[in-house]
Amino acid sequence: MTFDLSLTTKFIYIVAAVLIILGLKGLSSPKTAVRGNIIASIGMLIAVIITLINNGTIGIGWIFGGIIAGSIIGIVLATRTTITSMPQLVATFNGLGGAASVLVTTNEFINRNAGSVLNGSTDIPITFLLFATLASAIIGSVTFWGSMIAFSKLQGLLPDTPVLIPGRHIFNICLLIIIVISSWMLFTQPINEINEYFYWAIVVASAVLGVSLVVSIGGADMPVVISLLNSYSGLAAAATGLLLENALLVIVGSLVGAAGIILTSLMCKAMNRSLANVLFGGLGSSTTSQNENQDQVYEGKIKSTSADEVALLLDNASKVMILPGYGMAVAQAQHSIQDLAESLKSKGIDVKFAIHPVAGRMPGHMNVLLAEADVPYDDLLEMDEANPLFRETDVAIIVGANDVVNPLAYESDSPGNPIAGMPILQADQAKTIVVIKRSLSPGFANIANPLFVADNTLMLFEDAKKASIDLLTSFKNL
Ligand code: TAP
Repeated sequence: MTFDLSLTTKFIYIVAAVLIILGLKGLSSPKTAVRGNIIASIGMLIAVIITLINNGTIGIGWIFGGIIAGSIIGIVLATRTTITSMPQLVATFNGLGGAASVLVTTNEFINRNAGSVLNGSTDIPITFLLFATLASAIIGSVTFWGSMIAFSKLQGLLPDTPVLIPGRHIFNICLLIIIVISSWMLFTQPINEINEYFYWAIVVASAVLGVSLVVSIGGADMPVVISLLNSYSGLAAAATGLLLENALLVIVGSLVGAAGIILTSLMCKAMNRSLANVLFGGLGSSTTSQNENQDQVYEGKIKSTSADEVALLLDNASKVMILPGYGMAVAQAQHSIQDLAESLKSKGIDVKFAIHPVAGRMPGHMNVLLAEADVPYDDLLEMDEANPLFRETDVAIIVGANDVVNPLAYESDSPGNPIAGMPILQADQAKTIVVIKRSLSPGFANIANPLFVADNTLMLFEDAKKASIDLLTSFKNL
């Protein structure tokens, strides 16, 4: 199959694709992420401009008008969205990507069905065009509606608990059957008699499937779902690219599809859960027995501490490890934690940050927060780098983390233990552990944490931001 493009356009498309690939590579490390983002954005800008110019149907004024309007919307969204709301923003972008694919595909389908292409103006086989059309329509529709549900759950517009409607699996299978039969009808009809109703049935059934699949997943699993939908939006774009015979859209869509699925798999691996467990496991629906079990674990065994006491501990320490988690994001404590780290360092104490890959609620959550607070990249240790250092760590300060330091994860397989086998930050091996959180409430996995009752653990029950400010004040007053 040949794409009919001029040599210059092909060359510019290759340049744009290379820039986007280089940009993606830059995103693999916090040190190069900003540069990577800028390079990929330039690649995308070039791609958009050349596509619009090449298309020839709109003038340069419209192109720049669109770029300016889009830039303003982008700047407003990027500056107004808080870090904890970032997954919602990504869900919206994915959804719009899916919607764009469906709209473009529908337009093409209706035009082509009207005879423009099917009457022999292209050498591409009709079966291939139909395949691309259906792939784009199905995946795009599932992506848009799934993303809207993910957005609504995270934004609190819908309950974030899994909505487990009885018979939902049979219902989903029925939707799949509608999609398969309608697709079959489209493939088998004579070219000039294609019935558009089958196409609409596919789009609607895919939309309902998107809603039904995502509504049954708990809000806390939404980051994984969003990453998966991100991958889908790329696949839908790639299918649209095949339909439009646009090589760049195929390349970029495939990149997004591959990157999204790799990220999804990394997140599942870091949680020691299969994708099937995330999609169909219903984690996040709490039970009373679990809560009773938590009370039994903690009863009479908790040692509370104060900022003054922890400051004294830190004063006598030579190696300190800070372990941030979701609570640091909620409290927006990253700046005060960094102030505390700098103050400790100024007294010759070695301070490092240990980052768990799924700490928080989105990929790279802690890295983004700590980068915002200007924590030097060299102070950030990944889990594999940090774990061997805990034995010689004098004080491990856990800031709003829970599951990612829970020793119950050491159990390789245990029924009812959702984090069994999950790799964790081995804070339990530090000489003294200080846990900053507001109460004994569980984390995302909704299970007790035996680390809180360990002999060498002290609990500082406080909001993470207030606690770190108090700690800094007490430390400076020593
Ligand atoms: P969690 O296990 O969710 O624990 C967070 C803790 O923060 C809670 O126990 C909470 O206790 C505390 N907290 C909340 N607000 C606070 C505040 N203002 N100040 C101080 N503490 C506060 O967090 P984690 O250890 O970061 O683990 C992340 C979990 O999310 C893992 O189970 C992971 O599998 C899951 N997950 C992550 C991702 C990604 S990509 N990161 C995606 C899906 C799921 P209090 O209420 O008592 O304060």
